[in-house]
Amino acid sequence: MSNITDMFKAHYGKSPLAVATAPGRLEILGNHTDYNEGITLSAAVSQTTIFAIAPVEGRICRMKDFRDGSEKQFNLDEIDAPAPKDWSNYIKGVIVELRKRNIQIGAFDGAILSDIPLSAGMSSSAALEVSAGFAFAEAFGIDLPKAEWAKIGQGVENNYMGLNSGLLDQFSSIFGQEDGLIYSDFRTNEVVRNVSLPHGYMIVVANSMVKHNLVDSAYNARRVSCENVVKKLQQVDPSIKALRDVSMDMLKANKALLDHQDYLKALHVVGECERVVAGAKMLENNDIEAFGKLLFESHESSKVNFDNSCPELDCLCELATSIPGCLGARLSGGGFGGISIHLVEASYADEYCERLKTAYKLQTGKETETIQCCIGAGAHVERI
Ligand code: GLA
Repeated sequence: MSNITDMFKAHYGKSPLAVATAPGRLEILGNHTDYNEGITLSAAVSQTTIFAIAPVEGRICRMKDFRDGSEKQFNLDEIDAPAPKDWSNYIKGVIVELRKRNIQIGAFDGAILSDIPLSAGMSSSAALEVSAGFAFAEAFGIDLPKAEWAKIGQGVENNYMGLNSGLLDQFSSIFGQEDGLIYSDFRTNEVVRNVSLPHGYMIVVANSMVKHNLVDSAYNARRVSCENVVKKLQQVDPSIKALRDVSMDMLKANKALLDHQDYLKALHVVGECERVVAGAKMLENNDIEAFGKLLFESHESSKVNFDNSCPELDCLCELATSIPGCLGARLSGGGFGGISIHLVEASYADEYCERLKTAYKLQTGKETETIQCCIGAGAHVERI
């Protein structure tokens, strides 16, 4: 990964001016809570996207992806709408979002390198948006608060790509802390505190290999369900602004008012907010077993209430209950495919991955890929 400067030189015949690095993220607990002004526990990982940039004259931008060798080119005056199936949309979208803030950038030659699995639930698209943003900041002298870069990335998803996602992915990629989870509040958009995983435990990612495409999925419909519940409950209590303000007791007491499917979606979100509060305390009290149980509960709620799991993810989380060394597992991220996370005793991790792969293959006939994840630092940029 560190040789992107050399690869850039070999490809473009010159050095980049800056190299920005943005990590992928893991949602540890707090599923679909972000756009409900809720709370999450998440982490940046050591898998990153690296964006190298050199400004050029004119209006034509060139982009090279060193992962698959593909190349893209676009004119700065022709980026108002995304092109179909084009990874450079995530870069063009950042430029469009900057323009909304009255910030113009010049043309550039750029290149990316990434080891974040694509469309898996580790936020490869947020890492691309954030790395592009940080590269633009350095190359074109843009000075914005870090949280604004997260909003720019979210703006790309919401306005350019049509996915009404929250701020979790970009936020975690920017504010992630080495060796710690971040406890974030999406009402105030701030990291409230860092919470460490007790020593000797780690997160194993098991990829269901079911490609989720959140844009085409039911993600936006889930958000509408949450908003429907808020609108109904506002009739009971006008001070409610988001599901964040709804307690489990209140939700259950007003069940009859709500469409049943919407009710189930809200049950998940309200339950997730409760689990984040409880889970952070458990970690701080070194009660890792109780925390693991919350991960299983979270998955069960995704499966039964929020309906954003799939048979492959259910199988991976079910297997986690019987393989030694694992304390809890759940789907992570938007869902509908993608990854599951497994809280594992580090000394068991190698054996756990092997047993999980074998058992999964036996049960489903399919392969899973596992990653023993290291928690990494948030995004940064270097001038070359
Ligand atoms: C995706 C979205 C996030 C968040 C998660 C679910 O990753 O991009 O904003 O909603 O799903 O928690």
